[in-house]
Amino acid sequence: MLDMHCHIIPYTDDGALDTSTSIEMGKKAQEVGYTGIFATSHYIIHDNELVYKEYINNVKKLNELFKMENIDVKVYNGNEVFFTNNLLELVKDKKVCTLADSRYILVELPLFNNIVPINVYDEFNRLQDAGYIPVLAHPERYDFVTKDINSLVNLIESGVLIQSNIGSVSGKYGKNAKKNIKKMLKLNMVHFLGTDSHNTTVYEIYEKSLKAIKKIVKDDEILNKILIENPNKVLNNEKISIWYPKSSK
Ligand SMILES: [Fe+2]
Repeated sequence: MLDMHCHIIPYTDDGALDTSTSIEMGKKAQEVGYTGIFATSHYIIHDNELVYKEYINNVKKLNELFKMENIDVKVYNGNEVFFTNNLLELVKDKKVCTLADSRYILVELPLFNNIVPINVYDEFNRLQDAGYIPVLAHPERYDFVTKDINSLVNLIESGVLIQSNIGSVSGKYGKNAKKNIKKMLKLNMVHFLGTDSHNTTVYEIYEKSLKAIKKIVKDDEILNKILIENPNKVLNNEKISIWYPKSSK
């Protein structure tokens, strides 16, 4: 099983503060059943602009450290890229990492916008025309989803894939995110799950959250896709055939 969203690289963002935290996170990840993690440190233009070469070197170093510590979890390149109008250039110019260097790129939108930010469709179209597939990070946390879940349906229908945070179902991000993820799971609007862990706390609610998710997604085939098949396809840069959401109306 692969974690689609994790801030495990030390000293790069608001995630793991030092290598010992990364090691603890790696151990916990292995305990709950992960064999691989997409390292998705924040890339925020004008705020947290990571240096690509340094970053991928840090991913490499963490893999070496895990080997030394006998942690059997592989760490892959990735970023959680905060939305900007030049996403395509950031990818093309090798300023940001796609997920395991695949066609899939994890993108975060502002949490507090009441509507889908104005340039999102244009920019996502540009990415898609160039062969990339945007994966939206934890939309259950976005105000525009709370306001109208159909805005997310429209994004999915335009080819955007959805990554939700496992802890959302247990209320880690508040009541709205909890309500939203439950609705999204019921309507088949989630394609991947991730821990979005910044430290070890989320692993404490992992089992309980996964249990709650399994109760909502009763279809084993879909559950297997969300948990296993789709993340593996990202790792292997394979196409994911998406299912459209059930109508929310
Ligand atoms: Fe994140």
